Amino acid sequence: MAGINDYSVDYRVTGSSGDLSGGPKTHRLYRVLADAASVLSAAGVDSARVDAELLASHVLGVPRGRLAAVDSFTPAQRQRFDQLVLARARRIPLQHLTGTAPFRHLELAVGPGVFVPRPETELLAGWGIEVAKSDKARIIVDLCSGSGAIALAVAQEVPQVRVYAVEQSPVALDWLRRNVTARAEAGEPPVTVVAGDATDPGVLAELDGQVDLVLSNPPYVPDAVPVPPEVAHDPATAVFAGPDGLAVIRPLVDRAAALLRPGGWVGIEHDDSQAAAVAELLAASGAFVDIADERDLAGRPRFATARRGPAGARPGGTAAGDHRGRLAHRDAL
Ligand SMILES: C[S@@+](CC[C@H](N)C(=O)[O-])C[C@H]1O[C@@H](n2cnc3c(N)ncnc32)[C@H](O)[C@@H]1O
Repeated sequence: MAGINDYSVDYRVTGSSGDLSGGPKTHRLYRVLADAASVLSAAGVDSARVDAELLASHVLGVPRGRLAAVDSFTPAQRQRFDQLVLARARRIPLQHLTGTAPFRHLELAVGPGVFVPRPETELLAGWGIEVAKSDKARIIVDLCSGSGAIALAVAQEVPQVRVYAVEQSPVALDWLRRNVTARAEAGEPPVTVVAGDATDPGVLAELDGQVDLVLSNPPYVPDAVPVPPEVAHDPATAVFAGPDGLAVIRPLVDRAAALLRPGGWVGIEHDDSQAAAVAELLAASGAFVDIADERDLAGRPRFATARRGPAGARPGGTAAGDHRGRLAHRDAL
């Protein structure tokens, strides 16, 4: 069976035989991209053609949608592209190679030591943005903020709110501060970065009972679950959370309950197998009503939502697995 190095030889031979002299210019680039996609596909990369195009776009400095208008690589660009394709074939995450990850309307700086934001988390951020707008939220807290994806998306799209981003990892905090600074320099509302354990009752204790919305995409993968090679490049503390994957979510539920004002909302991302367990944790806290989960387009439960009950009351929640829509919850209040 061929190894990565064999692919690298194949790729370079094939790539240079689809050479840069003669023939239609766009055809030359097309052949290089096709060869690169074959290499990536053989290495097990799911989105091989898209990744090849995004790497070319990165090297050429043009949007992916404009690649068809590009003549070809210069020799230096071609060398750089070859290096990146080979690195991607070693299953280094695409975003570590380009240095950025898209998230809603943002391009976030990412790299080793910080979790790469995932497209599915855009659903949680979008839900939070909708709640923040319709409830005229003033204070929002993003627990386990990583690169700042959720916090910065909310700050960008709901500029009247004050957003706090809590993160524990020193390396992730460096990336978070870098992204927060970049967005503030772009004229967007500054996000307040808080270094600390999101489950610690002392962190942001001054906001207890005042927060309108708590959002979180915490680590939630059970320790023993195998992950794809790209995920192994995320920090383990960003991905794994004990034998059942709930080691962070469990105390986070109580922290969210303490931070929220009565009527405030929480949204917590989880694995699609954890919907019932997270709903039960929210219900067991006695602090939440209108507990539900939100599903993605494929029908998989992606994040739990709930509303803080009256202060001091322990009202319990609706049954786990109640999938009523969010507007239905709010109509009930
Ligand atoms: C799955 S990543 C999500 C990052 C970001 N919210 C996103 O959606 O891209 C989880 C993040 O939580 C951080 N984290 C894990 N445990 C934490 C804790 N107890 N307190 C604060 N941050 C924590 C990790 O360092 C990591 O950055």
